[in-house]
Amino acid sequence: MNLPRPALLPTFLRELTSPQTLPREPEPDAIMVDEEQVAAFSETGRNESTLAASYLFHSARASQAIQGCKQVVDLGCGPANQLIQIAGLNPEIEFIGVDMSQEMLRHAHEHVANAGVSNVSFQTGDITNLAQFGDHSVDGVMSTVSLHHLPTSNHLEGCFREIKRILKPGGAIYLADFGRLKSLKSVIFFAYMNQDRDPHQLLLDYERSLRAAFLLSDFEQLATQFLPESVSIYSTFKVPLLILLKTPDKALPASKIKILNAMRKKLNPRFRHDLDDMRIFFKLGGLKNDVFS
Ligand SMILES: C[S@@+](CC[C@H](N)C(=O)[O-])C[C@H]1O[C@@H](n2cnc3c(N)ncnc32)[C@H](O)[C@@H]1O
Repeated sequence: MNLPRPALLPTFLRELTSPQTLPREPEPDAIMVDEEQVAAFSETGRNESTLAASYLFHSARASQAIQGCKQVVDLGCGPANQLIQIAGLNPEIEFIGVDMSQEMLRHAHEHVANAGVSNVSFQTGDITNLAQFGDHSVDGVMSTVSLHHLPTSNHLEGCFREIKRILKPGGAIYLADFGRLKSLKSVIFFAYMNQDRDPHQLLLDYERSLRAAFLLSDFEQLATQFLPESVSIYSTFKVPLLILLKTPDKALPASKIKILNAMRKKLNPRFRHDLDDMRIFFKLGGLKNDVFS
């Protein structure tokens, strides 16, 4: 593994030493319907991009959490780029993507058809009210970088309440999102650190996401209140830029580990470096069972 980029150091130190001064600013568009915004997220995700590293990271980690599930619900699936990668790796699991944006789901349907995966379906729905799912009816719930779109912490609580209600006893959980940074300067640094390679719309989305992120302590409190004791919370070392809440890992078959490593090797070296940064910072944050070599 490479060493993390030295350019991260001043931001890391600032976050370690600053008081929490950054208030939450909810996303201007909680539900992503603006065509330009949707297209930027949807298309950048399909082509090799900044998102490639985080897609592969979550594909590996979510797969470890959901092994053995028959059916997994993805909350706020968006254009399904992430979901399709996870579904491709886990063809034995049925996935249901839920999103409130028709525009996102239109892209998602298109991507599924192009990818040729047959284990993904979609529902239009609100992740704070999952009435279409019965009590204790699903084996697994996952969500990647969607929860910060909820307008208030009451909505986040509503979502956790619904996860608790629909999940079968012993079910799998994999929830990943951004965490609130302490200073605006750090938000701007992370949001624009790849400005030479990413479309402006995506950078702006990233900035808005970081401004809208909930606190690590919000997630800790809701997990204690609503999620099973088996759920652990991890974040990137000392600076919770990224947060994971998940049930314990299950062993992945060697065939899936081989595919994941081949996917890592195929990444453009810059994005491979990004993936390795995520791996290092989560490993230092206590996350074990890394399947990449
Ligand atoms: C940043 S995208 C993430 C998409 C995908 N999970 C990924 O990892 O690429 C966030 C998605 O959450 C959706 N969303 C926001 N609030 C929602 C809600 N209350 N119910 C359902 N979907 C919601 C948005 O429409 C958007 O598609």
